[in-house]
Amino acid sequence: MSIGDVHVRKATEADQPAVEHILTTSWGGTIVIGHGVEYNAARLPALIAERDGAVAGLLTYHLTDDTLEVVTLDAPARHTGAGTALLTAAIDLARESGLHRLWLITTNDNLDALRFYQRRGLRIVAVTPDALDLVRERKPFVPQEGHYGIPLRDELTLELRL
Ligand SMILES: CC(C)(COP(=O)(O)OP(=O)(O)OC[C@H]1O[C@@H](n2cnc3c(N)ncnc32)[C@H](O)[C@@H]1OP(=O)(O)O)[C@@H](O)C(=O)NCCC(=O)NCCS
Repeated sequence: MSIGDVHVRKATEADQPAVEHILTTSWGGTIVIGHGVEYNAARLPALIAERDGAVAGLLTYHLTDDTLEVVTLDAPARHTGAGTALLTAAIDLARESGLHRLWLITTNDNLDALRFYQRRGLRIVAVTPDALDLVRERKPFVPQEGHYGIPLRDELTLELRL
């Protein structure tokens, strides 16, 4: 699917280097931990956003019987529409698959993501105070201070009912 000049497609094996590069740049590696679950995001199914044939963003996801969890979403060149195109494609994919819920975890400091998701219909449905303590047991390099100098402490669950 395409939105404006951004084209979104499913990732293939040939995208592995780009996938690993984006994950490592954004998250310090391909291992992502949220709600107590550890994923190797590089091995998850993924959507790639492209502009003029160049990779402009990545969304990795995990499917269960009834839900699509967005595990990571990254648009390295911000505010150019790649994030919206990827999220829209994931919502379409979930709907086409007959799923009833798209959800994800973000952190208390990620005000840009909270704005982005709420502007696109997702709602905050749970807050897990101090969830980052558990993440740091496995990823000690996760900083104490997050975006905007905010203490990085809590996980927020956002969802879109489909
Ligand atoms: C959150 C994130 C994925 C959003 O992606 P993005 O590509 O910047 O998002 P978009 O460009 O689609 O939309 C962001 C804003 O830019 C605006 N925008 C999009 N294209 C634009 C353009 N060509 N010119 C000006 N503004 C534009 C959008 O309208 C939107 O504003 P709105 O929310 O008021 O509607 C991105 O900021 C990111 O990678 N963050 C770091 C990783 C992260 O925190 N991920 C989420 C973890 S859960």
